[in-house]
Amino acid sequence: ALDEESVGNLKKQLEKLFAASLRVTVPDEPDVEPIITVCDKESGDYQCNNAMKLWPRLQRKATEFTGRQSVAQALKNNLPTSEMVESCSVEQGGFVNIILSKQWVAKSIHKMLMDGIGTWAPKLSVKRAVVDFSSPNIAKEMHVGHLRSTIIGDTIARMLEFSNVEVLRRNHVGDWGTQFGMLIEFLFETFPDWENSNDQAIGDLEAFYKASKKRFDSDSDFKERAQQAVVKLQGGEKKYRKAWQQICEISRKGFEKVYERLGVRLEEKGESFYNPYIPMVLELLNEKGLVEESEGAHVIFIEGKKAPLIVIKRDGGFNYASTDLAALWYRLNEEKAEWIIYLTDASQREHFDMVFTAAKRAGWLSAQGNKYPRADHIHFGLVKGEDGKRMRTRSTEVVPLINLLDKAKSGCKDALILRGQDREWTEEELMQLEPNAEAIGYAAVKYADLKNNRETSYIYQEKQMLNDKGDTAVYLLYAYARICSIIKKSGTEINELKKVGSIEFTKDAECVLGLHLLRFAEAIEEACTNLYPNVLCKYLYGLSLAFTGFYSGCQVVGTAEESSRLLLCEATRVVMEQCFHILGITPLERI
Ligand code: ARG
Repeated sequence: ALDEESVGNLKKQLEKLFAASLRVTVPDEPDVEPIITVCDKESGDYQCNNAMKLWPRLQRKATEFTGRQSVAQALKNNLPTSEMVESCSVEQGGFVNIILSKQWVAKSIHKMLMDGIGTWAPKLSVKRAVVDFSSPNIAKEMHVGHLRSTIIGDTIARMLEFSNVEVLRRNHVGDWGTQFGMLIEFLFETFPDWENSNDQAIGDLEAFYKASKKRFDSDSDFKERAQQAVVKLQGGEKKYRKAWQQICEISRKGFEKVYERLGVRLEEKGESFYNPYIPMVLELLNEKGLVEESEGAHVIFIEGKKAPLIVIKRDGGFNYASTDLAALWYRLNEEKAEWIIYLTDASQREHFDMVFTAAKRAGWLSAQGNKYPRADHIHFGLVKGEDGKRMRTRSTEVVPLINLLDKAKSGCKDALILRGQDREWTEEELMQLEPNAEAIGYAAVKYADLKNNRETSYIYQEKQMLNDKGDTAVYLLYAYARICSIIKKSGTEINELKKVGSIEFTKDAECVLGLHLLRFAEAIEEACTNLYPNVLCKYLYGLSLAFTGFYSGCQVVGTAEESSRLLLCEATRVVMEQCFHILGITPLERI
């Protein structure tokens, strides 16, 4: 995904240097790409591993090389001089270990402070992307399953936005389909005065859904009326459209409460939006010879799959798949998106696999998965309860999302009160705790989700995520607040200091922190390429550990190194702030 060079990315820059060396060292092997990895030994920050692979190829030809070691030596000798490399050494086995120049590291950090963290953003070759996430279903409550889609989707959108991609954040809500006939008919029956009553009349929409389903399953007259209602709704009959809208509006308000709390921005374009496009889109696919008739339905056969993709049901109706084909067409052609990313749990893998395959055969998407226009299904595992089972309340219902957020917030508030136990809290002070408890509580929920590899299921452990030690948002937020307080305590105007001061490393812990700061570009680029937010979480946790190491070994305020160290603190603050922003977390300057 990354075509242009990325300025901040150390690995990329080293790759460029070694590519130059390879061209000189082995001019007859033009296809060899530099292999650079992070080195965790004392003797190197990075290493180049090309010699091992090259040697067997060179051995077959007459060259001046005598073994892996001698290839490595030549790679080292032919390396163009550069400010960033302090020294290289050839290790047993043919590794070239690279030590970066500490001055260069310090200078690069200072440069970022001057030019902004945006200069460390990955350069992606796409201009516009659609992220299809959250996407709950009308008349049903958002549950923890939608939590992952919402949180991971928001972060993926933010990662791309940071990389200067224009992101269309799409909420593909389930607002269409046969269940609406049943709901509308039930509305008419139970609330004859529905047109004049307000939303509260229906009250709990989920209970309403269940009651109408019960009626639908037990009364054949009702069932028939419901089926006719679908036809009338889809035919655009006014009264039915209006009832449908009212039902959708109630759900929408409920969803919006959750988005507002989580600070997630989304634009709703539900299934109904794409409905008018379906006939035309299916005709396009038909013209390409993709659509066939099978057992009364219209289908697309996909190689390697047992069942075909049904695009028109036997009763002539459209379905989830036909809607997704129309949505994909619309996003590519009307919205001119080059990359379309869908977030749902792993159970929909097969569905998206088939839709994408059909779109590739139609020539809408590039046949190569990593070329644009491109579509990806970003699937994720389940959220489980402490018992390891799928999360449910006692009544075996799914757990409403809003309850979890409430609990995280109140848990945080209790912890904050406990922290200041030796003080008397006034009513007013307790009120002031509210926004902090909210910021920390929601951050805890988000981070506990994002830090896992999204493909695995995880156990929702409330106590653990609110712990202020270990790999938790609470710990990270405290680390951030500590940095802010150090800077504040110094009384220094950082923006002035940036212009006149410089960063110089005198201790190892400073170098370790400095190098970790520079690796932000690598981490975010890796996270963006394969859409794994946990890569960024791991980076952020590592950064706060490196900061703790620095802070426990290097006094800041009141030392000869104060200004250099303050700039290092500020750089850490800036990078952490950016990571928090991408993870959808609001950092606090004081806790
Ligand atoms: N409404 C669906 C569900 O709750 C998710 C929709 C995902 N997006 C899409 N374009 N199919 O399972």
